[in-house]
Amino acid sequence: MDNLSPKPAFAAPTGEKFILSPTAQILVESPMPELLRLGNFLADALRDATGYALPVSVKRAAETRNNISLALDADATLGAEGYTLNITPEAVALKAHRAAGLFYGIQTLRQLLPPATENAAPQNRACEIACGILRDAPRFAWRGTMLDVARHFFKVEEVKRYVDLLAAYKLNRLHLHLTDDQGWRIEIKTWDKLATIGGSTGVNGKNGGYYTQDEYRELVAYAAERYIVVVPEIDMPGHTNAALASYPDLNCSGSAPALYTGTDVGFSSLCIDKEITYQFVDDVVRELAALTPSAYIHIGGDEAHATDKDAYVRFIERVQQIVHAHGKQMMGWEEIAQAQLSPQTIVQHWFSDHAAQAVRQGARVILSPAHKAYLDMQYNETSPLGLHWAGYVEVQDAYNWDPATQIEGVTEQDILGVEAPLWSETLTTLSDIEYMAFPRLAGIAEIGWSPQAVRDWSEYRQRLAAHGARWTQLGINFYRSPQVPW
Ligand code: ACM
Repeated sequence: MDNLSPKPAFAAPTGEKFILSPTAQILVESPMPELLRLGNFLADALRDATGYALPVSVKRAAETRNNISLALDADATLGAEGYTLNITPEAVALKAHRAAGLFYGIQTLRQLLPPATENAAPQNRACEIACGILRDAPRFAWRGTMLDVARHFFKVEEVKRYVDLLAAYKLNRLHLHLTDDQGWRIEIKTWDKLATIGGSTGVNGKNGGYYTQDEYRELVAYAAERYIVVVPEIDMPGHTNAALASYPDLNCSGSAPALYTGTDVGFSSLCIDKEITYQFVDDVVRELAALTPSAYIHIGGDEAHATDKDAYVRFIERVQQIVHAHGKQMMGWEEIAQAQLSPQTIVQHWFSDHAAQAVRQGARVILSPAHKAYLDMQYNETSPLGLHWAGYVEVQDAYNWDPATQIEGVTEQDILGVEAPLWSETLTTLSDIEYMAFPRLAGIAEIGWSPQAVRDWSEYRQRLAAHGARWTQLGINFYRSPQVPW
């Protein structure tokens, strides 16, 4: 129980053990479909680990002994994502006010099993679970990571595997950076060349590709089953060379530039004063909104160095109206705070000083400070992957900060949460993604979930070492930082 990450808000171990026996059952309190699905989700994870049958059924009176039970509880103080776990030598009882809380309790329960159980090969031996009482709920509602599938494209199966790893650390947002100068990665039926031309290549000509709308829907549904909201980003007005190369009409000059496979930024712009630009944005946002069950459409807005400031502001304000017209809430990188924002717009801090300006307009902020939270920053001078324009970010740097004291003028109440972006200029495989994300992403997940008062680097580094054993079982290519006693 001492090795959980994110660290629970409250945990009181008793020192006893619950032994999961070959005849154990998973009992859900009612036949509600989501409860049964979660019971089966837990059973699948434990079946792989134990080789036991672990049947899932609706609980009848007085049969909890030796079993694991899942129930929804009237206790609203647990919030939408909190849970309680009561583990005694007789039984395991998981309760939450909402189903998401049960999902997070299941993740905690999995971490209470020995690391060897992460290995898909069944163990066929008694599994011990430490006894105690946990009462746990997140600090922030938004606990995310961003994956850049534009610089290099990653297939649905690769992203699904990443989603599984995010869920294990109670992250609940996957922001997909779907478009950039080097690639357009989502099928848009009314502008089909965006994907077929704009998606045909990537950095250094590698990892071209795009998601069909059906594939994208499948990914969104897979993430939703793990309580992860996929947040799509179409970056504009800059970072748009792939779109400009696909359609000459989108260019002020009327002629298309070549596809781009380098890594410079800040050279492309949509044509702000051409009406077709807004037809394009409207069509793209409409199709994307139809693929997006959640509230958020991210419109980028960063590094628009090739767009005049006044034109940029006009553009963002008009795009905000388009996003609202399609029933969605706009998000953007912090530069958008230079425009007049609706209070429901969400602003993502990364590098500059626009976050306080967003807060003064009533907008809420997500913190992704590049020198702490960018997973593509190299760990040190010898890191084989990544960049270092924001500095080197060792495991301690990524963990040891408090969102509430990060930016002057931005307090706990202004902050929706944290997000760790992973840009893919130097990454071409899932193994590369894993190496940059782990261990740092576990630290960002804990910043998002655990109360500041329970977080301490010298204790965390010990706890993190136990997760290395888990990642080894899972075959994750993680960075063996010298700061952690693996
Ligand atoms: C960014 O890193 N350009 C948001």
